[in-house]
Formats: sequence, C-alpha cells, structure tokens
Amino acid sequence: MRLRRLLLISEAWGVVAQYNTLQDILTAQSATLSTLSAWLQSQAVVFQILSNAQGVTLLAPSNNALSQLYSTSLASELALDPNFLTAFLAYHVLSGVHFVSDLSKSQGASVPTFLNMAAYSNVSGGQVVHSKSQNGAVNLITGNNMQSNLQPYDFNYVGGTLHIIDSVLTIPKSLTNTLIAGGLTATVGALRRASIEDTLNEASDVTIFAPTNDAFNAIGSLVNAMTLEQLTSVLNYHVVRGKVLYSELLTGGSELTSQGASVNFRVQNGALFANSARVVISDILVGNGVVHVVDGVLNPANTTATPDPNAATQPPAFNGASSTDGGVPFTSAVVSTTTISDGGTPTASPSPPSVVEGAASQTKAGAVVAALFGGVVVLAGW
Ligand SMILES: *[C@@H]1O[C@H](CO)[C@@H](O)[C@H](O)[C@H]1NC(C)=O
Ligand SMILES: *[C@@H]1O[C@H](CO)[C@@H](O)[C@H](O)[C@H]1NC(C)=O
Repeated sequence: MRLRRLLLISEAWGVVAQYNTLQDILTAQSATLSTLSAWLQSQAVVFQILSNAQGVTLLAPSNNALSQLYSTSLASELALDPNFLTAFLAYHVLSGVHFVSDLSKSQGASVPTFLNMAAYSNVSGGQVVHSKSQNGAVNLITGNNMQSNLQPYDFNYVGGTLHIIDSVLTIPKSLTNTLIAGGLTATVGALRRASIEDTLNEASDVTIFAPTNDAFNAIGSLVNAMTLEQLTSVLNYHVVRGKVLYSELLTGGSELTSQGASVNFRVQNGALFANSARVVISDILVGNGVVHVVDGVLNPANTTATPDPNAATQPPAFNGASSTDGGVPFTSAVVSTTTISDGGTPTASPSPPSVVEGAASQTKAGAVVAALFGGVVVLAGW
C-alpha cells in the first residue's frame, strides 16, 4: 500500500493528512522539511530508527528553524558531541501520539519526550515539552522558557504523527543556570547562603517556587536578619521534592513542601496563586523539574494567607517586613546574565541538531542514537 495521501480533511484545528511512511511526509512537505530531510539522508541509522519507531510524535524543525540553528554555536556543539546530539534528537520525539488537539489545551499540557539520559534530564519518565494554546497559536515551551510555534497540522503516518515547528527546542538547563538566566538572582543567592543549592541541583523531580527579586526586596528588613535556620525553613517551603508539578496540576488543593508545611493553590480570575503569591511565570522547565516564579516570598508561618482577588498586587505574607536601602537581598554574589520573558519573543538564540561532519562522527552519533532510541523504543513495547 503506497498511497501517498489516504485522507486530507479540514478540521477545527487545521489539516489532518495521512501518509504511509516518514519518508512520504518528508517528500510531500519538502518545501518546509527539505533541510531536515537532507540531514536524515546523511544519518542512515537515525533515519531508520525514527522511521521504525511506533507510537511517537515527531517534532520536525522547519527549514527556517534549521537555518537559524546553523547560524548559532549550538550547531557546532551538537556536531562535536554525539551524546548531546542524541539528547537533542530525543527531546524532539514525544512519547505517545499527540495530535494538535491534545497540544492546544488552554490550561497547558506537559508531554514526556524520549530525553531521559541522566546527564541531560533527571525528570522521571523523560523530560517534558510544555504545550500551550495562546491567541490561537500552539506554542511549545522548552528550556529557559523558549517558545517554538507549532504548525496546527497533524501529519499522521504508521509510526504516529509529525508536527512542524518553527524553531528547534531547547533542552532545559540546570536549576541554577535557569534561575540566573531568568534574573532570579535573589533566589539563587538565598539557596546558596543556606547551602541547599547543590542538593537541589542534584535531586530528581523537583518543583520550585522562585520569588522574584522584588519579592525578596519587599521583605528585605526581615530576611537580612534571619538566622540560617530560619532562612532554610523559608526556602524549603518553596520546594516540593519527588513531584514535578506543572501548572495544569496546580489548579487547587495543596502540596506538602520540604519544610513540612503545605502550600495552598487556587486559580482566581485566570491567575494561579500559591498561598497569597501570584505565579507570574509558570512552567519554566529545568533539568530536574519545573520552576514557577512567584511575586511574593511564601511564609511557612502564614499558610492561611490568601490573595485579595481585587488587588493588582498582594501584600507580603510576612507581617511588618519592609524593604531596605541595601539592595536586593542575597544578590551581591550572583551575577545576572539574561532575562527570561513571559511569552512573546525568545530572549536567547534557539538551541539545537546540526549536521555531523565526516563519516567517523556520523557513525558514532548513529551508534549513540541507536543505543538510546533502540533501548527506549524496545522498552516502550516496540
Ligand atoms: C542528574 O543527576 C545526576 C546525579 O546527581 C547529576 O550528575 C546530573 O548532572 C543531573 N542532571 C541534570 C540534567 O540535572
Ligand atoms: C499573612 O499574609 C498576609 C498577606 O496574605 C499578610 O497581610 C499578613 O500580615 C501575614 N500574617 C503574618 C502573621 O505574617
């Protein structure tokens, strides 16, 4: 059965096209996928694995996405490091068949990928891509809050489905690197002061509520005077261990923190609150879990703090605290680099795979990719 297109119908979320093989999609969509197609032709083992995988969703970078990639240093990093290339490829393959309709939920959806090498992910079940429908577009949120736009088409084939993306995905970075890139330097400095930064970076499956620098500044008089024990207790109240709580899992109820007390979650007027603090940026993916940025420092001695739904900003959850003139607490030893924006234009160059030059490195990359996907796909019941 070599029918190129069994079916082509319009749906609410765009076009569903049915193909036989991955090669058939690449041929039919060559206007958008010729660069990827050419790269796959040069990577026989990778192409064979992707063609044979069953029950997957391939996120295929467009010609434009790959030409952007090839102009960054990431391309050469990928070319030089077969393990990194493998991780990068694995991050572009979703586990399970996810149609555009599954990826365009307004509350967001976190979908596991095949990226599960410990050097790049300590998220059980595989690092995720967070999908979100915004203003009629479907965006995939990846490391450093980078966004890739997904074309609203399901290119279905025997192995599952394929979607075209307009920029390559960014593998989530470590907690510390991500917080610094996001300008959350008070949180980093505080974790460092309390000596829990390293433990958190090495843990698997964490959820972190990271207060903004303004939030720490608003209670500067108090945090600067805290003992290490008090500071540690407050910081641990911002950490849930052993669970990666993406925002779609936090619409209500409460979660037990490392501090021992629970934080309460509620959605009011479309905004998510942790106790009385507003989540101002949700779902920043990190190598070992997820970060939500909050506009107030959470107080484990004030677990009943609730937001005032009519107020634009909430008072600090610490009675009697005020800011000081000495600058934002904990930031003096932490150098900020870039800023993560909430949606809109990416602030860093998109990262990813590149052409691996030379026969020797091709074979090596192919072998590494085979080892990874081969193992995973077999485990998944292929
Ligand atoms: C995963 O955990 C191991 C062991 O703690 C660590 O060496 C590695 O860097 C971690 N990887 C990520 C992406 O966090
Ligand atoms: C608890 O938090 C609220 C803000 O939600 C604040 O007004 C109040 O002063 C706090 N109480 C204590 C004891 O810190």
